[in-house]
Amino acid sequence: MLNRLDQQAPDALLALIKLYNADERPDKIDLGVGVYRTADGATPVFKAIKGAERKLVETQDSKSYLGPEGDMGFVRGLIPHVFGDAAPGDGRMEGMQTPGGTGAVRLALSLAKKAGVKRVLMGVPSWPNHAQILDDLELEMVAFDHANADGAANMDGLRAALADAGEGDAVLLHGCCHNPTGVDYTADEWDAIVAILKDSPVLPLIDVAYQGLGAGMEEDAYGVRAVVSHCPEALVAYSCDKNFGLYRDRVGAFYVITTDADATVRAISNASALARANWSMPPDHGGAAVRVILEDPVLTQQWLDEVQSMRERIAAVRAKLAASSNAGGVNLEPLGRQQGMFAMLPVSKEQVQQLRDDHGVYMAGSGRINVAGLTLGNIDAFVSALSDVAG
Ligand SMILES: Cc1ncc(COP(=O)(O)O)c(C=O)c1O
Repeated sequence: MLNRLDQQAPDALLALIKLYNADERPDKIDLGVGVYRTADGATPVFKAIKGAERKLVETQDSKSYLGPEGDMGFVRGLIPHVFGDAAPGDGRMEGMQTPGGTGAVRLALSLAKKAGVKRVLMGVPSWPNHAQILDDLELEMVAFDHANADGAANMDGLRAALADAGEGDAVLLHGCCHNPTGVDYTADEWDAIVAILKDSPVLPLIDVAYQGLGAGMEEDAYGVRAVVSHCPEALVAYSCDKNFGLYRDRVGAFYVITTDADATVRAISNASALARANWSMPPDHGGAAVRVILEDPVLTQQWLDEVQSMRERIAAVRAKLAASSNAGGVNLEPLGRQQGMFAMLPVSKEQVQQLRDDHGVYMAGSGRINVAGLTLGNIDAFVSALSDVAG
């Protein structure tokens, strides 16, 4: 039986990491892998997480099973930060812990499918795993262009897709710090999207994987809050893996908003059954550490300060890139208006290869760069490499 399986292509970014590690040039630059890096190129454990982990070691008295919903203290503790005053307080919203944001997206789409969703509208390019999960769940993807060439969101594309959609359709939107384009909807654009969605049968699914790394914790939540304030139903997938630096601990949450408390109880019972059949229950440690932070005002402030310093570093790199004039005709100016770790450069696959071979600059074949892979010290070298291959 197993002999029939076809070879699958290795994950392109993981393959890139191997190539980067094997490269002996001291000035090589890694813009491929999607993790935050400090100005020294490190991806450290947050101080707030270390503090929470120390507390956990001292106080945790059991590692017995939790249920499929995971640590509900963690799930509820996130609500003020993610939803603020927009959190429906009438039993219309409930959440569960998931293995990372990936688990949350998977659970949201599985639940949507169980509720009768057949097609999912999605701006492209998107995080590659979105399409893979849709494919695996046999949900049809209806693609529209997410961004315009000028670096703004393509609202016409989204409007047209929504106009052609109806019952049995969902729309998957990035809450902030769009991966891979960095192109986020403005507050006005979110208002326009919500004005369409609130009277539409199309089910919104908001994927929030980078809250705090764009304009600010509150600002980055504008879209998700607008959707849950005005739409009768919504699904939200949340990742703590970037904004708590917990990548390998797999920390995420899934929230469902329905029309009434009974429907929410039923939706969660279905999500629990799906979780049970998939991963049974989420890993505990990272979620417990986040809960400890969110229960402690001092640790919470320390965490928010750490997120702020990440955000400021990303913004400083973006500003410097946007101001550089000599990138061989590659216009870096839009990067200054975009948000989060990622941006798409208009470079060909050949130019990506040449950047790697001739200059030790590693990026995804699509032209996506992780802005946080740059430092104020190597931006000039990067821009001159770009100028060399694109000029
Ligand atoms: C848009 C988006 N959603 C979800 C995720 C999932 O994050 P994780 O599963 O690592 O928490 C990512 C990670 O890269 C992402 O970019």
